[in-house]
Amino acid sequence: MIGKKLEINYTEYSSIDELEARDRELVEAAFEAQKSSYAPYSHFNVGAAILMENGTIVKGSNQENAASPSGLCAERTAMFAAGAAYPGMPMLAMAIAGGPEYSLCSDPATPCGACRQVMAEYQKIGRKPMSIILAGQDKIWKFQKVDDVLPLIFDSI
Ligand code: THU
Repeated sequence: MIGKKLEINYTEYSSIDELEARDRELVEAAFEAQKSSYAPYSHFNVGAAILMENGTIVKGSNQENAASPSGLCAERTAMFAAGAAYPGMPMLAMAIAGGPEYSLCSDPATPCGACRQVMAEYQKIGRKPMSIILAGQDKIWKFQKVDDVLPLIFDSI
């Protein structure tokens, strides 16, 4: 028997000003998307923005429902909208921003397992790495590909 360790690589930024222009624009789109969040039950508002290969940015936000499982996270709202609008087109990057009452958590909010699995599928369909940028109030974390937020990913590109 041998103990093993998994390592995850990511970059931490202390402000969106440190990001390259393309990523900064995407984070700003996620902030914008957060404004459309409908979360009267959790009061936790999340926005997501996806950069498509053709340069378009597709936005989504969490949409809750009184029949709670019927609601959806911001990330999947954005990915399903992007998949429906541009079938098969690579999603090159996704920025995510969330926090209580339309604020931002100081450490970035991180995507749920279901959203990570959906990211993995769209990354596979697009056959290009999808970088994931998580924006908090005090920190921004950038992961180069979905594999870095889904260790032991089932089926990568
Ligand atoms: N939520 C997201 O939309 N994305 C995340 O990354 C974390 C959680 C939503 C789901 C639910 O509407 C609310 O935030 C509280 O969990």
